[in-house]
Amino acid sequence: MCGIFAYSWRRKDADSILLHGLERLEYRGYDSAGITVGNDAHVVETFKAVGKVSALVKEVSKKRPSDAFYQFGIAHTRWATHGGVTVENTHPHSDVENRLFLVHNGIVENHSDLAERLSSAGVSFYGQTDSEVVAKLIGKETAARLRTGSPDSLLEGVEAVLPRLEGAYALVIMHADLPGELIGVKYGSPLVFGRDTKTGDSFFASDVQALAGYADQVTFLDDGDLVRIKPDGTYEIRSEGFLVSRPFERVETEHLKTEKGNFEHFMLKEIFEQPKIMKAVFQGRVDFEHLALNAAAFQDLRDIDIERVKFIACWTSYHAGWAGAYAFREYAGMSATVEIASEFLNSPVRVDPKILYVFVSQSGETADAIEPLKFIKEHGGKTFGIVNVVGSSISRLTDFGLFTRAGTEVGVASTKAFTAQLAVVTLLALFYAIKRGEDFRKYRSALNDLAKLPEVLQSVLSSSGEIAEVAKELAKRPHLFFLWRGSMLPIAAEAALKFKEITYLHAQSMPLGELKHGTLALIEESCPSVVFLPDDALFAQNQSSISEIQARWGKVLAISAKPVQNADWNLVLPSAPGLTFAFAATVAGQLLAYHAALELGREIDRPRNLAKSVTVK
Ligand code: G6P
Repeated sequence: MCGIFAYSWRRKDADSILLHGLERLEYRGYDSAGITVGNDAHVVETFKAVGKVSALVKEVSKKRPSDAFYQFGIAHTRWATHGGVTVENTHPHSDVENRLFLVHNGIVENHSDLAERLSSAGVSFYGQTDSEVVAKLIGKETAARLRTGSPDSLLEGVEAVLPRLEGAYALVIMHADLPGELIGVKYGSPLVFGRDTKTGDSFFASDVQALAGYADQVTFLDDGDLVRIKPDGTYEIRSEGFLVSRPFERVETEHLKTEKGNFEHFMLKEIFEQPKIMKAVFQGRVDFEHLALNAAAFQDLRDIDIERVKFIACWTSYHAGWAGAYAFREYAGMSATVEIASEFLNSPVRVDPKILYVFVSQSGETADAIEPLKFIKEHGGKTFGIVNVVGSSISRLTDFGLFTRAGTEVGVASTKAFTAQLAVVTLLALFYAIKRGEDFRKYRSALNDLAKLPEVLQSVLSSSGEIAEVAKELAKRPHLFFLWRGSMLPIAAEAALKFKEITYLHAQSMPLGELKHGTLALIEESCPSVVFLPDDALFAQNQSSISEIQARWGKVLAISAKPVQNADWNLVLPSAPGLTFAFAATVAGQLLAYHAALELGREIDRPRNLAKSVTVK
C-alpha cells in the first residue's frame, strides 16, 4: 500500500535519505514511486518512475545535476486506487504553479466534486488522482496567503482546505518558496512524526519502521493532528487548531533487523523464524510448569463481564480469528464467531455490551478493520486487539489487547504473524476456559501441546525439501483445492490464500463433505487437492473422501498426523500432537506455497497487485 517518507532539513543529501526511506517502505507493495526535493535557494525538483524504487533511483541519478544539493523533501510509493499506474498519477503532486507539492495516503471520497469546482474555476489536471485535487486546492489557498506576506501561509492554506476533505488521509506538504517547512496531517491513515534529537532533523513516515536509524524519537499521530516543521528546525503539533503535545517514544532498533540473512526471500526467512516466535509469544505469559496464564491483558479481562466473542479481521488475520472462534467454542464453551471486517458494517449492527469484539491485525492499520472498530467503540462495545505492530492504530484504539510479538514481517504474504496470531487467540480462549471453570483436562492438555510448539514447528521446517518436491508437482496445475473437515477450516483457508497470493494459481478451500454437492464436477487429473487430516475422530471419514476424489482421477496430497495409505503424496507430521497439528499444518501450507511460487519464478516477497498493509477501504 502507499508509503510516505519526508525529511527536513540540515543535511544536503535529502534525495538519498528519501530514496532510502522509500526502499524501506517497499515491502508494503506499490506500483510507482516519486520524490520532490528542495533547498534554501528555492530550487525544487521532482523525480518519478513507474515500477520499483530502483527505477526511481536510476531516474534521479540520470537527471539530478551533479552539483545539486537538496535539504528537504517528500517521497511516496503509490499503490494505484484512483487512476492508472502512470508517471502523471505518481506522487508527489503539485499545484498549478508547480510550487506546492504533496504526498497523500488514503482516499478523498469527495474529490470529484472538489475537482469539478476547480475545473469550473479554470484549473486543469494532469492526472486522475484525488491527491492531485488536494494539491491544487491547498496550492491555491497557500498562494493567496503568500501574496499577502503571511509567515503562516502554508499552515493557513492547509487549514483552509482540510474541512473540505471527506475520507481518509495522511498528507505531507511542502512549498518551494518556504524552504525547510513541512506540514504533516493525519486523518484516518497512519502517519508517524520522528525527530533526530541530536541534529534537530525532522521526519515523517507512514510506517515507523522506515524511521529506524534516522529518528531516535517518534510520535504516532492521532486523527486530526497537524505537525508543522518550521525552517528553524522547531516544530508544533496542532489539533483542531490548538497547539497540543504528544508523547514521544524511542524507536526500537529491532526495526532495523530486516535483512534476509542467508535466505533467498524474506518469506522463507520468516517461515523459519516461527519456532523462535512461538517462544516469544509465550514468554512471561504462560507458566507451563504451573499451567498458569500471566499476561497483564488477562488481569484486565478478569473483571469484565462478557458472554460471547466476535472476531473481526481481514483475510489472513480473519483466518486466525476463525481459529480463535473454534478455540473459544472448544475450550471455553462460549459462543464465538468471526466476521469479515470489510463487510461488518454492510448489514445492520447492534453493538452488544456482553460481546468482546476482538480485532486481529498484523499491521494494526487496516482501514477495513479500523472502521468497524471505531463504530463499535462509539456504540459502547468492549474491544480487544491482537496486533503485531506496536503503536499502530488498532493497538491504540482497542480497550485491551495482546501483541503477537512476531517482529517485523516483510514478506507481503503473512506467515510468522499468522502463527503468532493462532497462538494468541488460543491463549485468549484458554484464559476464558479457566475463568469460566471449564474442563481443566482439556485446558491442561492444550497448554502441554503449546509448550511443544517450537520443537514441532522445527520438525516441519526440516521437511522443507520433501515439501518442495510435491510443490513442484502442484505448480504444474492451474487449479487446486484445499479440503478440510472440522477445525481445519481456517488452516485450509489460509493455506489456499497463501498459495494464491504468491503462485497466482487458483486455489480454493472447501469442506470435504460439500465436495460431492457440486464441486466434484471440477475434479480431474489436472485439478489436485490438498487434504488436511489431523489424528481425530474424522480421520476415517477424511480418508474415504480421498478415495472419492481419486475415483475421479484427482490426485491428492494428504497433510496428516499419521500415514494415509491411499494418498498420492503424503506429508506426515507425526510429531504434531493434538492442538499443535493446526500450527504444523499451517507451516507445511506456507512451505508448499513458497516452493510452488519459487518453481514458477514468482516475485515471492512482493506478489503482483498486493500490499502488505491496506490502509484504504
Ligand atoms: C492485506 C494483506 C494480507 C493481510 C490483510 C489484513 O490484504 O495483503 O496479507 O492478511 O491485509 O492485514 P492485517 O495487517 O490487518 O492483518
